[in-house]
Amino acid sequence: SSTPLKIAVTGAAGQIGYSLLFRLASGALGDRPVELRLLEITPALKALEGVVMELDDCAFPTLAGVEIGDDAETIFDGVNLALLVGAKPRGPGMERGDLLSANGAIFTAQGKALNKVAADDVRIGVTGNPANTNALIAMSNAPDIPRERFSALTRLDHNRAISQLAAKTGAPVTDITKMTIWGNHSATQYPDLFHAEVAGRNAAEAVGDQDWLENTFIPTVAKRGAAIIEARGSSSAASAASATIDAARDWLHGSAEGDWVSMAVVSDGSYGVQEGLISSFPVTTSNGDWSIVQGLEIDDFSRGRIDASVAELADEKAAVTELGLI
Ligand code: NAI
Repeated sequence: SSTPLKIAVTGAAGQIGYSLLFRLASGALGDRPVELRLLEITPALKALEGVVMELDDCAFPTLAGVEIGDDAETIFDGVNLALLVGAKPRGPGMERGDLLSANGAIFTAQGKALNKVAADDVRIGVTGNPANTNALIAMSNAPDIPRERFSALTRLDHNRAISQLAAKTGAPVTDITKMTIWGNHSATQYPDLFHAEVAGRNAAEAVGDQDWLENTFIPTVAKRGAAIIEARGSSSAASAASATIDAARDWLHGSAEGDWVSMAVVSDGSYGVQEGLISSFPVTTSNGDWSIVQGLEIDDFSRGRIDASVAELADEKAAVTELGLI
C-alpha cells in the first residue's frame, strides 16, 4: 500500500531517537512510505527541530512527512505504530519507587492518549526503561486496545546474546537461531542457550562449557548495558535503535521460518509466568501478531532463572499497583 505508515516516536530528540529516526525514514521497515510523528517534552522541541532539519536534508524517498509536538493526543492521532522510547532516567539519589512513579506519569498519559486517538491496527513497542513495567502501565491505561498490541523491547538483549554466542563458537551470527531472552529487561533477564542452536546444533552442547554459560555468557549479556556506559560514557543508543527496528520489522512483517525472536509480551500463563505480566518469551510473529512458542522443556536451572526474573516483574507490578498507576 502506498498510504504512509504513521509511526509515532517518543523521546525523539534523545540519543536513541537520533539513530532510530534515520533508520525508519530510510526504509528499514520496508518500501512503504512512512510519516513520522515525533513527541518530545516542550524544552526538547528546539533540538528536535534541528533533527527534523537533518531528516529533511537526507531527502529520503520513503519519508512522506514529519510532524513534531509536545501533545500526545495530537501526535498519536491515527498512528499505526508507536515506539515509546522517551522515559525518565534514574537520577542521583532516586529510589526505585521514584523512578516508577516518574515513568508512571508518562506511560499512564501516553496509554490514555493512544487509547483515544491511535489507529485501530496500532502496535505499540516500549523501549524506554523500565520497559516491561512501562508497557504494563500503558497497556493498563488503554482498555480499548487489545493487550496483544503492547510489547516491551528485549530484542537488544536477544541480539547481544546472539553476538556473544557467535563469538564463542566462531559461527557467523546467521548460524545462530532460536535464541530466547526470558523475563525482565534488567539484570535478572535470562538468556537461554538450552533451546538456541548453532548451525542446527543445540547451543549448550555446542558450547559444552556450563561454567562459561553461567559465569560468563549470562552476566555478559545481562550487564552489557552497564559495560557500554562504562566504555562510551553514555548508554547504548545505536544498538538500541537497531533492536527497536528489528523488533518492529519482525512484528509487522513476520519472523523467519524455522526461527523465533524474543519479545516481552503479556503473559497468558505460558511457562508458569504469572498471567498479565509483560515478560519476555520466545515468540514467532506473522501478519502483525505474535504467538508464544509452546512446548519447550524447561530444566531446573532454567526454571530457577526464569522464576527469579518473573518475581522481579511481579514486584514491579505490585509497586505500580500500590502507586495507583494501573
Ligand atoms: P535520552 O535521555 O537521550 O532521550 C530520552 C528523551 O526522552 C529525551 O529527549 C527526553 O526529553 C524525552 N522524554 C522524556 N519524557 C518524555 C515524555 N513524557 N514524552 C516524550 N519524550 C520524553 O535517552 P536514550 O538514550 O535515547 O534512551 C531512551 C530510553 O531507552 C531510556 O529509558 C533508556 O533507559 C532506554 N533504553 C532501553 C533499552 C532496551 O533495550 N529496552 C536499551 C537502551 C536504552
